[in-house]
Amino acid sequence: MKDKDDKLNKIISLAKRRGFVFPSSEIYGGFAGVYDFGPWGVELENNIKAQWWKKMVYDRDDIVGLDSSIFMNPKIWEASGHTKGFSDPLIECKECHTRSRADKMLEEVGVVADEKMEEAEIDKLLKENIDKIKCPTCGKKDFTDVKKFNLLVKSNLGDFTGDNSDPAYLRGETCQGIYVNYKNVLDSMHPKLPFGIAQIGKAFRNEISPRQFIFRGREFEQMEMQYFVRPEEEMKEYEKLRDYRWQSVLDLGFKEENLQWKQHENLVFYAKDAWDIEYNYPWGFDEMEGVHARGDYDLTQHSKGCGKPLDYLDQESGEKFIPHIVESSGGVGRTVFAILCDAYTEDELGGETRVFLKFKPSLAPVKVAVFPLLKNKIELVEKAREIYKEIKKEIPQAMFDDNGNIGKRYRRQDEIGTPYCVTVDFETLEDGAVTLRDRDTGEQQRIKIEELTPFLQNAINDVD
Ligand code: GAP
Repeated sequence: MKDKDDKLNKIISLAKRRGFVFPSSEIYGGFAGVYDFGPWGVELENNIKAQWWKKMVYDRDDIVGLDSSIFMNPKIWEASGHTKGFSDPLIECKECHTRSRADKMLEEVGVVADEKMEEAEIDKLLKENIDKIKCPTCGKKDFTDVKKFNLLVKSNLGDFTGDNSDPAYLRGETCQGIYVNYKNVLDSMHPKLPFGIAQIGKAFRNEISPRQFIFRGREFEQMEMQYFVRPEEEMKEYEKLRDYRWQSVLDLGFKEENLQWKQHENLVFYAKDAWDIEYNYPWGFDEMEGVHARGDYDLTQHSKGCGKPLDYLDQESGEKFIPHIVESSGGVGRTVFAILCDAYTEDELGGETRVFLKFKPSLAPVKVAVFPLLKNKIELVEKAREIYKEIKKEIPQAMFDDNGNIGKRYRRQDEIGTPYCVTVDFETLEDGAVTLRDRDTGEQQRIKIEELTPFLQNAINDVD
């Protein structure tokens, strides 16, 4: 447990120290369940999102993209079942008033609480297992009864009642924006089944106990793709999507032993099957993304909700039916976190312990850093700036650094996972070559300036 906490703390500390992830509103004492991505965090996020978009849109002739709004007609959340059923079981410690998720507390002691269970059933399980359960803050065992707490986040957008009795919701999942645009995509793009719609965007949930850094937040980003299929092909397409997502995740450079599939034990009533790709986070394997077979539930509900048919017309056979949906749904934050954990490496270099992030070059926030050996030698600084500008024309994620001694600059770049560093020294002025250092091995080689950019372009071009 201590080792696991140590690793988690080391990653959280590095993420903050090196500008990946900051707690939100920190100078005001923070704001639970919300994080900000710093200068390198946003680059890492963007690289992950770009690779997801490539896999899910550009590499596929059968999938198109979408960017739907965060706010939607509140009737959408009624039709989807979220206003009634999108809840977690809440308990409160009577001693210190810490609120917790009863199902998670039970899970931690090896008891599964079914999503469909009524409050009284979860209460019963809690009482049966109370010897193993305690308040995470004060350690007492005196809790209120379980109460279902709805996770939708309300706003007063367009609600002028004054008492928030006509709320609009911030979306709880991005896929609802896809379902309600399915007909628009059909009418504008005329795709044939099977086809998919992909989108990346923010989602909001009033999580009772946001925890584990960016793993469970109240504001987070999802990458979702909904694939519309003929009913009889649902399970075949589902298998294909699972294989496709597994390979796509591996292509991000994860160590395969840190990934596993887990089937959901308790399915929501409309789902045919659901599997998660779990990553081995510092506390153990936990959900990073899911692949779900959702049947015709979503389009049927929205067709009933809006009172309009959402059928698909097969032009050749004349058949009309509601397509079934298989979905891939992942979190940007959870993937960033998993990539940070997977890349985090400690080794010994030059007799010293060092920490570095062994990112696949295409994911690294900075691909190459250029240094003048000495900051106060104008001729070295000018030459290094000249080389840096040339590289940046082809590789925008490059940086210039002349702060501190060379050893410190290498360490800083190691900690943000920069695969290559280039040093301009006095010899450069004579022989037109620079020192190129490899992050993983620490090895250095001389390379001609004119060969540098093509070498780097080739070395960082590892997107599968
Ligand atoms: N449309 C299906 C759906 O939203 P989900 O399992 O609730 O399914 C999908 O969420 C993914 O979104 C998760 O696998 C996770 O990566 C991410 N996610 C869900 N809740 C989250 C939270 N509170 N904080 C961060 N990421 C979250």
